[in-house]
Amino acid sequence: MTNKETILNKIAQNQEVVGIIGLGYVGLPLAVNFAEAGIKVIGFEKSQEKADMINHGDNYIGDIRDAVLREVVVDTLKLEATTDETRMKECDALIIAVPTPLDKFRKPDMSYVESACIDIGRNMKPGTFVSLESTTYPTTTEDFMLPIIEEQSKHNPLANSQQPTAKGFVEGTDFWLAYSPERVDPGNKQFHTRNTPKVLGAMSDDGVEIGEALYLKAIDNIHKVSSPRVSEMVKILENTYRLVNISLINELALLSGKMDINIWEVIDAAKTKPFGFQAFYPGPGIGGHCIPLDPFYLEHIAKKYDFDLSMIHAAGHINMRMPHYMYIKIATALNSQKKAVNGSNMLFLGVAYKPNINDERESPALEIMDITAHKGGVVSYHDPYISKVKTNEGRKFNSADLSSESLAKADCVVLTTNHKDFDIDFIKKNSKLIVDLRNMVIEGSDNVFKL
Ligand SMILES: NC(=O)c1ccc[n+]([C@@H]2O[C@H](COP(=O)([O-])OP(=O)(O)OC[C@H]3O[C@@H](n4cnc5c(N)ncnc54)[C@H](O)[C@@H]3O)[C@@H](O)[C@H]2O)c1
Repeated sequence: MTNKETILNKIAQNQEVVGIIGLGYVGLPLAVNFAEAGIKVIGFEKSQEKADMINHGDNYIGDIRDAVLREVVVDTLKLEATTDETRMKECDALIIAVPTPLDKFRKPDMSYVESACIDIGRNMKPGTFVSLESTTYPTTTEDFMLPIIEEQSKHNPLANSQQPTAKGFVEGTDFWLAYSPERVDPGNKQFHTRNTPKVLGAMSDDGVEIGEALYLKAIDNIHKVSSPRVSEMVKILENTYRLVNISLINELALLSGKMDINIWEVIDAAKTKPFGFQAFYPGPGIGGHCIPLDPFYLEHIAKKYDFDLSMIHAAGHINMRMPHYMYIKIATALNSQKKAVNGSNMLFLGVAYKPNINDERESPALEIMDITAHKGGVVSYHDPYISKVKTNEGRKFNSADLSSESLAKADCVVLTTNHKDFDIDFIKKNSKLIVDLRNMVIEGSDNVFKL
């Protein structure tokens, strides 16, 4: 039997073992989905703490129900986690969901993907399907991953036992390489991993066929494209589309503020148009692990093609300035009460980058807190989902109580995240001054300043 026939047979009989590399916001829900479908899943983690938690059935991702994780770990024994990469040889498919952050020079930090590829090359068995899900720049799969995996597979005892000349594995026959971007939207109750269509681009037709058969176990709809670089560009397009539109509405919000026009009312009216308009909402800036980072990924590759992304630059520039504009809003609000930021008690409500989740990565709230503290504001925060934070400038805070006393003590309460848990009437009743950056206070009054 060929490698292709072997893996397709296993998939057809639910006998395949799926390895998920990186068990974070993306990897763990995917692992649970496969395990719920009755597939044996091995999760590979560099963090011993996370691997131990999973093996005890302890959940740390908000989008997964605790009972479901316990069921697949403890009852059906379909999911286990390990820090031992040599166990990759037990897997028929290896799906990578490791971080792709930026380094301190805002350049793509591909070290996690590189490390995963080294582990794969050295440990996978012949006939493995490999797919990257992490956000990255177009060409990563073919130009960055493939050479590492092929080179490292020369040190793989399973490759060399088959090929004594130490040629290693060859893509298309010994393994298949694909890119299938994760589209998870943490906190979204309607769309989750299973019912969000998945785009799949592989380096060969066989890779697409195998990838589709595999992913259909965990995801309802697969949209196939002609190459990994197309699927890589799809992911960047989706996130850049959001970036540009959020930037546009943020810019219009700032102008509207100057012109005494309520931007929220404008958007509500514009979206009555049944075609050609999609509503985006202003806010204190963009956050999370994707939208603020993706333009830098695209820029990295565009530079190699001597191409200037002028529109994306402009969009990024507007968004980067938003926290500073928000600080000016806060200072103006305090000024209206004859107070200065310097020495004022400032309570920020919400540090998560979006509502109802526990993720503060790249959150604009942290930057506004830094700017305010830098100007002498006495900063505190409350977030029902995040008990402590460290800001970009290294300031550490524990979440304060949200009570009538803490609200009354604050010279200014800043609504930075629209968590559903926030009782706006209670906040409004007990606060001296509110700066609402999320349109949470519907009925304004003299002590409410809105973006
Ligand atoms: N969080 C989101 O909403 C989201 C949405 C779509 C795409 N993405 C993308 O998916 C990727 C993963 O994001 P995330 O939010 O799940 O990150 P995360 O930090 O929550 O999880 C990544 C996990 O990978 C582990 N890890 C790192 N290197 C490893 C290695 N070599 N081997 C095994 N484990 C390793 C880390 O310990 C961590 O637990 C990123 O590229 C991100 O941009 C994230």
